[in-house]
Amino acid sequence: MKWTMDEVPSLEGKKIVITGANSGIGFETALACAAHGAHTILACRDEAKGEHAIAQLKQSHIRGEVENMKLDLSSLSSIREFSSTLLDKYNSIDGLVNNAGIMMTPYQLTADGFESQFGVNHLGHFALTGLLLPALLASPHSRIVNVSSGAHSWGSIDFDNLMYEGGKGYSRAFAYCRSKLANLLFSKGLQKRLLEINSDTIATSAHPGWSSTNLGMRSHPLASPIMSIFWKLAQSAAMGALPTLRALLDPTAQGGDYYGPDGFRSSRGHPIKVGSSQDAQNPELADRLWVVSEELTGISYSWTNDN
Ligand SMILES: NC(=O)c1ccc[n+]([C@@H]2O[C@H](COP(=O)([O-])OP(=O)(O)OC[C@H]3O[C@@H](n4cnc5c(N)ncnc54)[C@H](OP(=O)(O)O)[C@@H]3O)[C@@H](O)[C@H]2O)c1
Repeated sequence: MKWTMDEVPSLEGKKIVITGANSGIGFETALACAAHGAHTILACRDEAKGEHAIAQLKQSHIRGEVENMKLDLSSLSSIREFSSTLLDKYNSIDGLVNNAGIMMTPYQLTADGFESQFGVNHLGHFALTGLLLPALLASPHSRIVNVSSGAHSWGSIDFDNLMYEGGKGYSRAFAYCRSKLANLLFSKGLQKRLLEINSDTIATSAHPGWSSTNLGMRSHPLASPIMSIFWKLAQSAAMGALPTLRALLDPTAQGGDYYGPDGFRSSRGHPIKVGSSQDAQNPELADRLWVVSEELTGISYSWTNDN
């Protein structure tokens, strides 16, 4: 049977945070969550775009409350501000979808000096999750979903030049692949630590296949026209959001599961469990990346499970 949102029960009373929710996969994820009654928090770097997304959601048949909050994953101070505002308002969160992403951008640094694709796609979400962990642990059976990509399989983690210091050896494409591999290793490391404290919170992952969104539109002067043609052949963003939604909401999902489309080369279709590269399954790599990510972000996870 094909998995669709029809499988999902009412989400009334649930609070779900989605990064990069003003566009593409994040927007469709927010729409589906709000339509099923979840209080849906759109974490967007551009407040105006977030407000526009809220207005669009309100024109659809949503049942849940929707809220826009500013979050720029390229800045640890923005991540801290977002997290403290959220935790002041809410003690518990039922779902965190680490969805926001940039792809194949030129070599540049985040506010904290991280190579931007690794900084936004991985380190930003690593820091955010650590800061929101108390609220996630406070909610029974909560979930953290990391949105990766099939491109992770071309990625490698070189700890000697993790962030292409000074642009050394930088490739827009391989830096993206590295960040997407890091997303899967983060899920692996997180799930291991959640199990160690006997938490019923789980970490899962998803990838949207090849879906028509704004990804990569600003990465190069030629990107926009090329990408527009490229994306015309892709599946809709709504279909691309289904693996994320399954990873977030399917009651049968287990910690560590990774969902992607069931069609041609996992590029389109309905969500099923999919495999990942050997590197993505390597526990030593996951542990080393965890330690380095804590050092770089200065965020130490607090593993108290009061549940
Ligand atoms: N589309 C695909 O075929 C595909 C394939 C594989 C994986 N993915 C993954 O799917 C996820 C969603 O991408 P998408 O395809 O939906 O692309 P998208 O339409 O470009 O959406 C990306 C979202 O991330 C946000 N974002 C970028 N930088 C940010 C930052 N510093 N802080 C906070 N938010 C930030 C964007 O905000 P702005 O609107 O302000 O830029 C936007 O809301 C990404 O993780 C991507 O790697 C997509």
